[in-house]
Amino acid sequence: MRVLSLVNQKGGCGKTTAAINLGGALTAQGERCLIVDLDPQAHATLGLGCDGDAGPTLRDVLLDDLSPRRALVEAPGDLVLLPASAELAEFEEVSERQLHPTQVLREALREVANDFDYALLDCPARADSILTANALAASSVCLLVVEAGAFALQGAVRALRLFDAMGERQDSRFDLRILGTMFDRRTRFARELLVALQARFGESMFDTVIRQSVRLREAAAHGVPVNVLDRGSRAASDFQALAGEVRSIGLEEGVELSAEAAYEVPHETPAPLTPPGSPAGGPWSVGVPR
Ligand SMILES: Nc1ncnc2c1ncn2[C@@H]1O[C@H](COP(=O)(O)OP(=O)(O)OP(=O)(O)O)[C@@H](O)[C@H]1O
Ligand SMILES: [Mg+2]
Repeated sequence: MRVLSLVNQKGGCGKTTAAINLGGALTAQGERCLIVDLDPQAHATLGLGCDGDAGPTLRDVLLDDLSPRRALVEAPGDLVLLPASAELAEFEEVSERQLHPTQVLREALREVANDFDYALLDCPARADSILTANALAASSVCLLVVEAGAFALQGAVRALRLFDAMGERQDSRFDLRILGTMFDRRTRFARELLVALQARFGESMFDTVIRQSVRLREAAAHGVPVNVLDRGSRAASDFQALAGEVRSIGLEEGVELSAEAAYEVPHETPAPLTPPGSPAGGPWSVGVPR
């Protein structure tokens, strides 16, 4: 199972929308995909038409040692959701008492690592949250979601430094990638911003940019991924293209990482391959342009 976090310390920039719809697109391409709602706002849960108060949630997994399998619910678009409720905030308060407070999610996800090809972790906007720290510790790829607005470049540079530093502090190894979203290509501002982001971040930036689309808001209101609401929409095609890119991460240098390689299950599979010239620790180490 490859674990990807959708992050930014900025609120409302499209993290939850990206988690749900990238999940929907990966599933449409035949991948088994788990969405983990790591935000006490529970927007991913609501955006998939689910109710975090209806049964066990991620809170019970993180705080009461509940098996994640017992909290999973089926969601539209053949997705599987590990839901959240407002009670997830309790984890913030009591996690300090745990022995390894940032590793709880990582350990819990091991149990379902053979059931899914991808787990997408929808993070809260607070980067200093212990929930975000848990997501980073569990992830092999960190998707920084950047909204095409004023000061997007400055915000993205700051966020990259922040998440890079968090990864180093925690000794987490993840690949940081930038996803541009809410782009309106009709405006000169957005086109210039895109060029500036690509110049600054180069290959760390996905070629696919998610355009502004009212269909994404409608899909969230209907509680479904956009490809379920309107498979022919441009939003659905943007996320299909992104899913294709995500699936090719790690393949660029001719290295295919097995599910376990990304997840490090040493007893079951051989060690991951390391492409020539890559730093010790393999292709998933933090690589941030300065
Ligand atoms: N590409 C897009 N085009 C149009 N609207 C979008 C797009 N992406 C997201 N939105 C809308 O923007 C709003 C914020 O998006 P979303 O909830 O995904 O952000 P977030 O980063 O998860 O927010 P939070 O920090 O509160 O968790 C939502 O109403 C969503 O429907
Ligand atoms: Mg969100």
